Amino acid sequence: MNVVEWTKDMSVGSEVLDGHHQMIIDCLKRLQPLIGSTGHDDEVNAVLAKLEDFVLVHFSEEEQAMKKAGYPDWRRHKELHDRMYDIVFNLKSDVEHGRNIDAARLHELIYNWLIQHILGEDRQYIPYLEHPAPESAGLWTRASGRPY
Ligand SMILES: [Fe+2]
Ligand SMILES: [Fe+2]
Repeated sequence: MNVVEWTKDMSVGSEVLDGHHQMIIDCLKRLQPLIGSTGHDDEVNAVLAKLEDFVLVHFSEEEQAMKKAGYPDWRRHKELHDRMYDIVFNLKSDVEHGRNIDAARLHELIYNWLIQHILGEDRQYIPYLEHPAPESAGLWTRASGRPY
């Protein structure tokens, strides 16, 4: 079992976005003691609810931050978010239809997401967050000045 702790290497340079990512690590820590035993469906479902909060709040805020900073690959990044969003909502639908989720399965999903996405994809926008593209300020504003 891989035990994950937050380290500065995981930082994307934004306190808010880092805070969201730390929430994912908290989900992993809650699931770890539940793996391999039964009778914890309520706790597993509570972690799934947290994961749902994460995909709703974090993806939206991260996408806005990428656009605002002028990160050129934000559409592809958003597609990866959309895929994870679909997976989480399918799991939620399973629970609503009375199908319990295995703690190990949910842990694996979150762990793979953490490693592949947060440490791989998310870190690519760091330079843009640190030094936003100069034209990006007006890029997402209509001629009228109203934001999209
Ligand atoms: Fe992220
Ligand atoms: Fe992301």
